[in-house]
Amino acid sequence: MFYHLAKDPSQVDKLRAELEPLLNGKTRLDQKDIAKAQHLNGVIQEALRLHPAIPSGFPRLTPTEGITVSGTYIPGEMTVVLPVYAMQHDEENYEQAEEFVPERWYSRPEMIKNRDAFLTWNIGEFGCHFWENNKFADRQPRHERLHRPRVGHHRDARSDDALDPELQVGPLR
Ligand code: HEM
Repeated sequence: MFYHLAKDPSQVDKLRAELEPLLNGKTRLDQKDIAKAQHLNGVIQEALRLHPAIPSGFPRLTPTEGITVSGTYIPGEMTVVLPVYAMQHDEENYEQAEEFVPERWYSRPEMIKNRDAFLTWNIGEFGCHFWENNKFADRQPRHERLHRPRVGHHRDARSDDALDPELQVGPLR
């Protein structure tokens, strides 16, 4: 995040313009202020998009009987991985995908072509608990969507409901 701010000082100006009125004489922002800080939330989200903490993706085992995901049959006992870095840098999912554009997360939603292509926290019941409890801004609708699919963890993906056949991940390639 600081790399992008250092590279583009206009982003720092935007942050200052947003945060100074919210500080309003206080020395630090509280949780309520942070929820109102759209640009700050966009900056964090955009840094997490371009630099996901686990870029390679998360291995999952398919159930013994196999599974069909978005029309593609995958045999049982296979390890499948969603390539997080590639998805989050793909022009099919994000306009100007290689650019740092925090505004796409609040005032320029048309720059996000596929909202499900954000996997920094992963999805499903084993996704990050921190995200579950500390949504940065008010993104409840998206948060609900993120947690609806039940994708099994590599530790126990063989349970009956580990992989949701209705999970829409787009064409496998
Ligand atoms: C930028 C910060 C963070 C990122 C990007 C991140 C991302 C992730 C990812 C990708 C997973 C793996 C999910 C999976 O295997 O499907 C995970 C798991 C987890 N994270 Fe985070 N995390 C962050 C910070 C935190 C923090 C601060 C906490 C706790 C206070 C936390 C608690 C957990 C827990 C408990 C799990 C395990 C969930 C499970 O296996 O059931 N994370 N996180």
